[in-house]
Amino acid sequence: MLSALLRVFFLRCSRSKIIESIVKKTPLARNISRRFIAGETKEDAISVVQRIFQDGRRATLDYLGEEALTKQEAFSAVCEYIKLLDVVGQRLLYTSVSIKLTSIGLAISERLCNDYVDLIAKKACALKIPLEVDMEGSKYKDQTIAVFCRLKDKFPTLKARIAIQGYLRSTPSDIRELAQRCANIRLVKGAYDESNEVAIRDKKNIQEQCIEIMEKLLPGSPYILSYSYLALGSHDPVLIKWLIDAIKKRDMPKYSCEFQMLYGVREDEQIRLTRDGWNVRVYVPYGNKWFPYFMRRMAERPANVCFVIRAIINSLTKTNSPV
Ligand code: FDA
Repeated sequence: MLSALLRVFFLRCSRSKIIESIVKKTPLARNISRRFIAGETKEDAISVVQRIFQDGRRATLDYLGEEALTKQEAFSAVCEYIKLLDVVGQRLLYTSVSIKLTSIGLAISERLCNDYVDLIAKKACALKIPLEVDMEGSKYKDQTIAVFCRLKDKFPTLKARIAIQGYLRSTPSDIRELAQRCANIRLVKGAYDESNEVAIRDKKNIQEQCIEIMEKLLPGSPYILSYSYLALGSHDPVLIKWLIDAIKKRDMPKYSCEFQMLYGVREDEQIRLTRDGWNVRVYVPYGNKWFPYFMRRMAERPANVCFVIRAIINSLTKTNSPV
């Protein structure tokens, strides 16, 4: 009960500009956010990715930002993505780039977003860097799928993947279309504050729906015409075990799927899976618009409040201790 209340509290906070501006003024909050965010600059993100590479994990880099409300704000995110692609192309093999479409104009208009995503896709194609389209709140879901499908048609050589949320009631019908288009999918549970009509709330039922979806995306399912690589974006041991068993049962090689996890979450499990020969990709966000992303991470695991409280106490005791 308390954890459900905290979840709603953090998700509501994640959308409050007032709370964001207060929290972001505190240097301590910035330090605490580093648990999940590589830092504010590309250089911070690159040094995290280089550390991730050392034990064989891969990365996807996300320039934080969402719901840009002016053309100028959206265009400046596009420029940052283009610079990021250049850096990835020069220095970071096997790294993909993740984008939230509302950061590049989807909250303004689908047409603007199409124009802007084309600029990014052209560069990604030229440098052969995969793009991953994140899924945001359900009000953007249909447009996100439409922009993604158009992108795949317009840039057939682009390696593109779309995130699909296991908690949405509409997902089983959405994946039918995506699977038939051979879309690469990152299956996640879903991180937003959705109503009961739109999303399943119960953890067990979400797990069940995620398993049904994975079943439909693996060879043997009538949904798929030819197998495209499935990525599971989850830290949930039940889903991870299910996918490992399913791959083994179908005699598929380990490289035919990918486990994706967030920077700062279950690093021991990321390393264990990599050592066992599975592909593991870490989602590494950076940038100064970290507040909504950080609040969603808090909402996923209200026990994270404890590490925040510990950090506050540590900083207070340091400040008050005699020099
Ligand atoms: P669950 O929440 O059940 O967690 C399982 C275990 O993992 C927990 O018991 C805990 O040990 C650990 N854990 C999980 N979250 C934690 C946290 N924040 N802090 C500390 N420990 C934690 N969502 C979305 O709506 N759109 C998207 O595009 C994406 N993209 C995305 C990419 C990747 C690579 C990942 C891993 C996740 C996303 N998500 C996402 C987020 C996703 O929807 C979901 O909210 C989180 O992954 C948490 O759900 P889990 O499946 O990990 O399980």
